[in-house]
Amino acid sequence: MEEKEVGQFVEVLDKMAGLETAIADLYSAFSKHDGDKEFWNRISNDEMHHASNLRKMAGIVMERKGVGFSAGRPFTVEGIMKFIDFVKQRTGEVNDGARDTKSYFVVANEIEKRLLEDKYHEVLKTVDERYTMLMDKIIRDTEMHVNITDKKAHPA
Ligand SMILES: [Fe+2]
Repeated sequence: MEEKEVGQFVEVLDKMAGLETAIADLYSAFSKHDGDKEFWNRISNDEMHHASNLRKMAGIVMERKGVGFSAGRPFTVEGIMKFIDFVKQRTGEVNDGARDTKSYFVVANEIEKRLLEDKYHEVLKTVDERYTMLMDKIIRDTEMHVNITDKKAHPA
């Protein structure tokens, strides 16, 4: 991987960290309005960990100068920024009281599903264990978040 490319991937991973932080902020906003405070705080915390993982992953790619990493699914900073804007708009609505608390789980479910569907974990291919362990944790948590919000959004 060329040096220029390393910089681009580091930027993409950094924006992904920004996306996870924006989601953490949204869940934190939910926790202030919804009775299920503990749940929202817990998953908000998970997203903060994901942001931290992604920053560590960016650090690993930099440290290794891209050696052992190759381009996977293409992502643009613009695409990630659009997703961040979407999340921030929802946070604004929650803070303005413009959203029924009943819709919180539906919104969270939509976001978690989109995270999995967009396959952010395929941004880079590598066998670097430190990197893949950090990414695997994000995927496992996100799958769990999809399942929980699915059940809460659509109770049987
Ligand atoms: Fe999540």
